Amino acid sequence: MRAYDIIYKKRQGLELSKEEIEFMINGYMDGSVADYQVSAFLMAVCFSSMNENETFYLTDAMMRSGDLVDLSRFGKLSVDKHSTGGVGDKTTLIVAPIVASLGCKVAKMSGRGLGHTGGTVDKLESIEGYKSSLSSEEFLEQVTKIGIAVTGQSGNLAPADKKLYALRDVTATVDSIPLIASSIMSKKLASGAQSIVLDVKCGSGAFMKDVESAKALASAMIDIGTKFGRSVRALITNMDVPLGLFVGNALEIYEAVQVLSGKGEKNLTEICISLASNMVSLALNIDIKEAKSRVNDAIASGNALNKMKEWLSLQGGDISKINQPELLLNAKCKKEYKAKKCGYISNINAECVGIASMLLGAGRAKKDDIIDYSAGIELKCRYGEYVNEGDTLCVLYSSNEALFEGCEKKLNESFSFDNEKPSESKLIYDTL
Ligand code: URA
Repeated sequence: MRAYDIIYKKRQGLELSKEEIEFMINGYMDGSVADYQVSAFLMAVCFSSMNENETFYLTDAMMRSGDLVDLSRFGKLSVDKHSTGGVGDKTTLIVAPIVASLGCKVAKMSGRGLGHTGGTVDKLESIEGYKSSLSSEEFLEQVTKIGIAVTGQSGNLAPADKKLYALRDVTATVDSIPLIASSIMSKKLASGAQSIVLDVKCGSGAFMKDVESAKALASAMIDIGTKFGRSVRALITNMDVPLGLFVGNALEIYEAVQVLSGKGEKNLTEICISLASNMVSLALNIDIKEAKSRVNDAIASGNALNKMKEWLSLQGGDISKINQPELLLNAKCKKEYKAKKCGYISNINAECVGIASMLLGAGRAKKDDIIDYSAGIELKCRYGEYVNEGDTLCVLYSSNEALFEGCEKKLNESFSFDNEKPSESKLIYDTL
């Protein structure tokens, strides 16, 4: 077999065999296929796409390039969720303890943030003492004991995806549905859960800008998971505006605690209840109505919040601020950002708010940038609300007040106003 022939075949729009796909992936990993050939291959996939079988073989080859976590001891109870990434998306921090408090097993490997979206591990590391790298024994022992552990992704989980993703990032080959679907699912499958709920974000702050492409991505991922014998559901959710009212690491822990205390912002709470209900329904094999009622009870009874505290403290975290959440909003410097005109808020661009928060120190522009955990943005207004000139739109938090100016410039691009009240936007477009 020759890489050249495989690239040419894909360029012609022909179907590749399992062996040909494995040849490319394994060859890339062992160095026998050069990265310029893999780049050409990825570009051919972007133009010619891949059918369901090819996408399945690609996922399989990437999944098998590294460790496979064995969660078979938990049977159907092991459940995972994945979000395709968004601004202010703290849903893992909320749904994981909810479903664990209901008897599901959450053995979750999460990533760090880069660019305008934050990573779950960074958010958790804003809690003093939280240990985000557990050995596989510690990880599984904790899940067995309390039903939940969240750790950083092991370096050897689907390493082919890591290498391919870095190449896609610099060769304009990120936004191809088979490449995104196989990339996400190779990691999810290698992490071992039997049931998987996907939150496919759709809108200005997401990879998928419209509902049709978000559904196509969701279907591709469901198809892969089903072929591997896993139960998969997908929610298509709105990411035109940030999720919830807080963006930034400690700030998002605060908001997660608010939701688990029954005091969360409406949209964020609704998405979390929906994700958690689907996870519980799959893992416990119960209908969605019953699952939703158990999820609501877990919040109302305080069991979900108690599970969060148990989890964070067992993983070394200091939970004094979880008990007094206002202490999580303790940045050295704060500043109000005010409306420069009046009108109905017709957009709060999620991507711009994510970048504005990063400019305060809450995220990384480069991989080794140091995060200011106290930094971020609190929104004081919502899409569709009427504001007067001078009303406070957000509060900015940072350890360094010199960063406010750059953030404010970005926020000037984030808000749009209209004389007419904008139409209601949908929060959950579909469940597949
Ligand atoms: N997230 C991933 O893990 N992979 C992609 O290709 C896109 C988003």
